Amino acid sequence: MRNLAIVAVALNALSFVSATTLARADIDLVLANREDASPPSEGVVNATQAQLNSCPGYRASNVQTTPYSLTADLTLAGTPCNVYGPDLTSLSLQVTYETASRIHVKIADSAGKRYQVPQDVLPRPPSSNVDAKQAAIRFNYTTNPFTFSIIRVGKVSEVLFSTSKTNPLIFEEQYLRLKTTSLPPNANIYGLGEHSNTFRLPNNNFIRTLWSRDAYSVPPNTNLYGNHPIYFEHRTTGTHGVFLLNSNGMDIKINQETSSKTTSVEYNVIGGILDLYFLAGPSPAQVATQYAQIVGTPAEVQYWALGLHQCRYGYTDYVNVMQVVANYSRAGIPLETMWTDIDYMYKRRTFSIDPQYFPLDRMRAFISALHAAGQHYVMMVDPAVAYQPNQNYPAYDQGVADNAFLRVANGSSFLGVVWPGVVVYPDWFHPNASNYWTGQFTQFFNPNTGLDIDGSWIDMNEPANFCSYPCTDPFGQAILQGLPPPRKTSPPPPNAPIVITKRAQTASGPNLLFPPYAIHTATQSLSDHTANTDIVHYGGVTEYDAHNLFGTMMSVKTHDALLARKPGVRPMVITRSTFAGAGSKVGKWLGDNVSDWPHYVNSIAGMLGFATIYQIPMVGADICGFGGNVSQNLCARWAMLGAFGPFYRNHNELGSVSQEFYRWPMVATAAKNAISMRYRLLDYIYTAFHQAHLDGSPVLNPLFFKYPQDQNTFGIDTQFFYGDSILVSPVTGENAVSVTIYLPKDNFYDFLTYAPIQGTGSMVHLSNVPFTSIPVYIRGGAVIPLRQSSANTTAQLRQLDFEIVVAPGVDGSASGSLYIDDGVSITQTQPTTWVSFSYKSGTLTASGTFASTNKVATVSFLGVSRAPKTVQVNGQRVSSYSYDSGKKVVKALVSIPLSAGFTVRLG
Ligand code: NOJ
Repeated sequence: MRNLAIVAVALNALSFVSATTLARADIDLVLANREDASPPSEGVVNATQAQLNSCPGYRASNVQTTPYSLTADLTLAGTPCNVYGPDLTSLSLQVTYETASRIHVKIADSAGKRYQVPQDVLPRPPSSNVDAKQAAIRFNYTTNPFTFSIIRVGKVSEVLFSTSKTNPLIFEEQYLRLKTTSLPPNANIYGLGEHSNTFRLPNNNFIRTLWSRDAYSVPPNTNLYGNHPIYFEHRTTGTHGVFLLNSNGMDIKINQETSSKTTSVEYNVIGGILDLYFLAGPSPAQVATQYAQIVGTPAEVQYWALGLHQCRYGYTDYVNVMQVVANYSRAGIPLETMWTDIDYMYKRRTFSIDPQYFPLDRMRAFISALHAAGQHYVMMVDPAVAYQPNQNYPAYDQGVADNAFLRVANGSSFLGVVWPGVVVYPDWFHPNASNYWTGQFTQFFNPNTGLDIDGSWIDMNEPANFCSYPCTDPFGQAILQGLPPPRKTSPPPPNAPIVITKRAQTASGPNLLFPPYAIHTATQSLSDHTANTDIVHYGGVTEYDAHNLFGTMMSVKTHDALLARKPGVRPMVITRSTFAGAGSKVGKWLGDNVSDWPHYVNSIAGMLGFATIYQIPMVGADICGFGGNVSQNLCARWAMLGAFGPFYRNHNELGSVSQEFYRWPMVATAAKNAISMRYRLLDYIYTAFHQAHLDGSPVLNPLFFKYPQDQNTFGIDTQFFYGDSILVSPVTGENAVSVTIYLPKDNFYDFLTYAPIQGTGSMVHLSNVPFTSIPVYIRGGAVIPLRQSSANTTAQLRQLDFEIVVAPGVDGSASGSLYIDDGVSITQTQPTTWVSFSYKSGTLTASGTFASTNKVATVSFLGVSRAPKTVQVNGQRVSSYSYDSGKKVVKALVSIPLSAGFTVRLG
């Protein structure tokens, strides 16, 4: 609701299309929308568990097996229960051992007609067809009734998933129910986002609803912007993953089963098929990489995108934007990228620029100046295009000419209400959508004649609609919400044709607006505040089925449009709504949080979800909070926590107090301290991103990923590892200057002083943690490449030499890596540097490929209990070294070109 108020404030002052230009054509469109109207909750059924459990289930027959697969026919095993509509009588089962650690179980209608997530939205991985005997997990089944289980084989044999006769499979036209009851009591379940709950999910009376929605203030226990039907379940015996590849709305219920003393997971899905992937792990990171093999590994990021970003909604004009850049510079806070929200647009219209407030020539000059200073610029693009017939608004006119907008049943454009007032929405399924979108980007963001942006911020792509369902009068709504009041009192424009093309319809029958099973969406209904779910996209796909894909499809089109603008350069796109697989193209921010302490703390769980489970590691929350007014204490803490998030952007809502880091001296200091650490670590995290790109290894690690046997870590989401080895433990209490943290039984070293800290597997109280500092430790066993110092821009940073920090683990050894490339190209034309460091028995060895012009200037050995007699580089003694007996640190000043392998030995 807050958004609506904001819309009203934001758009009040805007004039709108004159009444004359709207009139008749609009009335037709309004009526077109009205055809979809039905009273809320019509047709919704409330079935009890007993009713569901009395359904007949299915019987398996015609079972055919090969060493790596099984197929069967599933036939309804009794009288249909028709709880939420007609049961399907015949299904097909297909089981494939796709790899030694992945089983694909697909239960679909035998005719194969039902909706499935399109291959071009999420291409399925090829199957390696592995002999079941070689697999780490096994598919077992019974035929009558058909039940199945997934068992971990090997040393520990355990049930990971099992359906049962008492909770029969239900497969109805608009309702699928599949329940596993075999998880351990009080199971450790993670994932099933997007949510703002704890990272370890509540596991009793808990419902996760997946249905994209514009979710101001990101409340817990509600559906949010994106959808990721993957969970990891962790036990000390291993971690496994379950991915349900389905984009329909769903409730996933997690409960404690008192009779069996187990945890159950029950899928309640309102369409599509049951397309399940089971991932064997057994380590948490292995589940992550196995999931990446299905949804794709994350896109490689641009090096500069890891710098500090500044944004806000409400920068009034380009001068204001320039002032912010200048103020950062004056305050000595390195600002890498400036952003502009919808403020730059002419009347909030996407692909338009306000000639008075953000004149093109001044903007071009400003962007050039930013580029000359080694800085970058990102601008907002919304999917909804202002409905502006005959107004010479290219984004609208071209979309109409291309037939690229969503339509309701009678062929008229679907009208919603977003920032510019009445809007239409692109139909990403339309074959012209790509050309249309790329065309807009290449024209509007043309480096030679338009705005030479470095990246794109895409928003409102759930898709959001400020008009509640049924949106029978978008024009009235626009006025009601304070949009300029174009009452339709004058005659219609002479030529306001709406191009009408009838699209293919799906068979009538299903209730696409109010399906019998009502998922627990926080909106009034499925179509509320978004596009109507009975809209049929090009090619016959309904919004009902594909709603959860809108954000991801826009992401891909935007990624491709940026690539067309600058071929060969990694597109930088940050989106709000995502579906499984989005990370292979784009990054994500966590939406409209609020400037309060709970949101600050919860941003860690939010980042962990995307960076470790959903394979979208380029993720971050709005630093200092989006909604409301931040306090300086909170902003200081958040500036430091955010520096250890992959995507680091300060962003603020229209009307909230300014919160750029330079606004308060204390916050500026906090930010500078943290940015200094972040920038020194930039190549370390860039290397982690590269590894993620190669195999899906997590960029952030929850503690249990590194200590899977330590039960104390399973619920921790206020501390995390940045990359593999940097333990971040922010102060979490409101206005607090102390924090109690958990240190696993391991070696740690303070990041700033290098002093050793012994973890004992217990809580540690840290007192006197000022508002300008954040506790950060290096985990023993790591070799960390650091830049020698911080810098004003990442371009400058890349010129600096390295310090290699050797932090031995409990066994005295350590390892790490360093990847350097040009930071921007998809395909590297010049040789890259990829070094493996290993440390053992006093010797650090660097091997791999070397092509960097940077040098290693310092090697620091931590936890050294006596002063070395000698330090040797490649067998040659080095004279310049020191030993700090208090901190147990040897620091050797060296000059080793990163052009060949080397050793550094403590004698
Ligand atoms: C909603 C986004 O979540 C927010 O970040 C943005 O500032 C507003 N839209 C205005 O564009």
